[in-house]
Amino acid sequence: MDKVVAITGASSGMGLETAKLMAKAGLTVYGGARHLDKLRGITDVHSVKLDVTDTASKQHFVDTIMKEQGRIDILINSAGYGELGPVENISMATAHQQFETNFFGAAELAQLVLPIMRHQHGGRIVNISSVGGDIYSPLGAYYHASKAALQQWSDTLDLEVQRFNIRSVVVQPSGTRSTWGAVAREKIRQNVPNGSAYADLAELMTTTLADDAQGMSATSSDLAQVIFKAATDVIPKRRYFNAVRDRVTVFVARALPNIFRRRLQHSLE
Ligand SMILES: NC(=O)c1ccc[n+]([C@@H]2O[C@H](COP(=O)([O-])OP(=O)(O)OC[C@H]3O[C@@H](n4cnc5c(N)ncnc54)[C@H](OP(=O)(O)O)[C@@H]3O)[C@@H](O)[C@H]2O)c1
Repeated sequence: MDKVVAITGASSGMGLETAKLMAKAGLTVYGGARHLDKLRGITDVHSVKLDVTDTASKQHFVDTIMKEQGRIDILINSAGYGELGPVENISMATAHQQFETNFFGAAELAQLVLPIMRHQHGGRIVNISSVGGDIYSPLGAYYHASKAALQQWSDTLDLEVQRFNIRSVVVQPSGTRSTWGAVAREKIRQNVPNGSAYADLAELMTTTLADDAQGMSATSSDLAQVIFKAATDVIPKRRYFNAVRDRVTVFVARALPNIFRRRLQHSLE
């Protein structure tokens, strides 16, 4: 497959596994990462320094690929993290940072690659959201909001660019083994002050997010297969899931929101 792929968040988890999988399949892969040392030894992936919250860094990422390859066929927005904590305690600056990474990072990169893809008469943008773009749990307000926004944005973009043979699609993983859980647990620790009225929720969510917690059965390699499919399907779908269970969870949350909420409330009692 003679395609050029740009992947954000390539230093870890799904981004890293997707970069490796796509390179193995013969695609030309550029992995953007804040810490290039994390990609040392992955010789078949071109690594470029990238902070998705920094406009100049994103421009440099795209310019580098264009200078070296002259085209970008696939953009995979995988960079993201969970800024978990109570709405009452998370500062607005911290909430903005969550959106800068999970939402505006993807949005601005899309703006940079769209003229290139239009000029090429085709392209694919794959946005890594979460089942948490449709379902929600305590302490995840800004994370869920950022992923829900990403999904609505992707669907709107898809409507606008289909006529140029460009598609914007969404992958919705559920709990997946990566560094995501450790980062989210650390965010809870940072965002829940001593003596907080939300300490019990913090404890519950920290346990739920443990690396060996039930439901954390998918691996980043499993998700890489799903992302690969989303990026290369000849006729892409709007949504991709790793497991039927994930698809059903999202369906129930959307179709029967009261049942979903009652079950969630019950599990918190
Ligand atoms: N794992 C899950 O359970 C799960 C479930 C649903 C959705 N997701 C979503 O899947 C995507 C990939 O997550 P993952 O599971 O692979 O987690 P991960 O292993 O923690 O990887 C996240 C990646 O995002 C990068 N990143 C974070 N902030 C960045 C920034 N400002 N600029 C550039 N890169 C940045 C990280 O870079 P550093 O190495 O520099 O930190 C890392 O490479 C995320 O969008 C996440 O929200 C994950």
